[in-house]
Amino acid sequence: PAITFGLEASYRIEYADQYESTNDRARELAKMGTTDDVAVVADAQTGGRGRLDRQWSSPSGGIWVSLLLLHPHCSPAELPVYTFAAAVAVVRAVQQCGIDVNIKWPNDVLLSRDTPEINPSDGRKIAGILTETAGEADQVSWLIVGIGLNANVDSTALPPEATSLQSVIGAVDRRALLQRLLNSFAELTNPIDLDNIIDAWRTHSTTLNQRVRITTPRETIEGVAVDIQTPGALIVQTNNGIKTIHAGDCEHLRS
Ligand code: BTN
Repeated sequence: PAITFGLEASYRIEYADQYESTNDRARELAKMGTTDDVAVVADAQTGGRGRLDRQWSSPSGGIWVSLLLLHPHCSPAELPVYTFAAAVAVVRAVQQCGIDVNIKWPNDVLLSRDTPEINPSDGRKIAGILTETAGEADQVSWLIVGIGLNANVDSTALPPEATSLQSVIGAVDRRALLQRLLNSFAELTNPIDLDNIIDAWRTHSTTLNQRVRITTPRETIEGVAVDIQTPGALIVQTNNGIKTIHAGDCEHLRS
């Protein structure tokens, strides 16, 4: 059944059973001159999008939500911090279901590896975030933070590296989960405190102190992830010294 609303949120909620992509719907609203911050929510997406132009499987039962933030409270260079805040908000919301999750840089939310009762799904991805902006580099007019959380979906409908809350603990109360997610995000970003968000991210991250391989369009970097720097760059100790990586695909290597 579709989510019914009555949520107490800092955002106007726009719900539909189906959108092609909630990020695209949020963009449309921005272009139409919406004056409120909106959370666009869908039960299913027909063209859900992931990072790096990937598809995002979005069957009915997930939490597919895009937050349209009309007045981001930081400079354009600092905007990535909203993505990190969203990952922390997902972790906080999901942990209240009694599930241990953590974040792989930059913003994949994974089931922890050390949760024996959920063995087969250990380490699999349950949520991802796609942030998009509009405007000139030095003058961002709005920001869209798209969050995909595999809640009540059958994991056979998802890629093999992904799983869902339903496969781990059975169906969850999506409305309550979404409420916690929106509350946590609002709490972390109103007002925005960059260092506080990055600190919270650090405590939930599974990437720090691990051997990693980062693939960027230009190069592949291997080393140990030693820290994350505000607003979100990963610091990697390689054989050739310290590298600061702003974007890329991260793989954890066994050391
Ligand atoms: C990723 O990990 O690659 C990011 C996935 C982001 C998916 C969400 S679902 C809601 C919003 N609408 C989209 O089309 N994508 C994001």
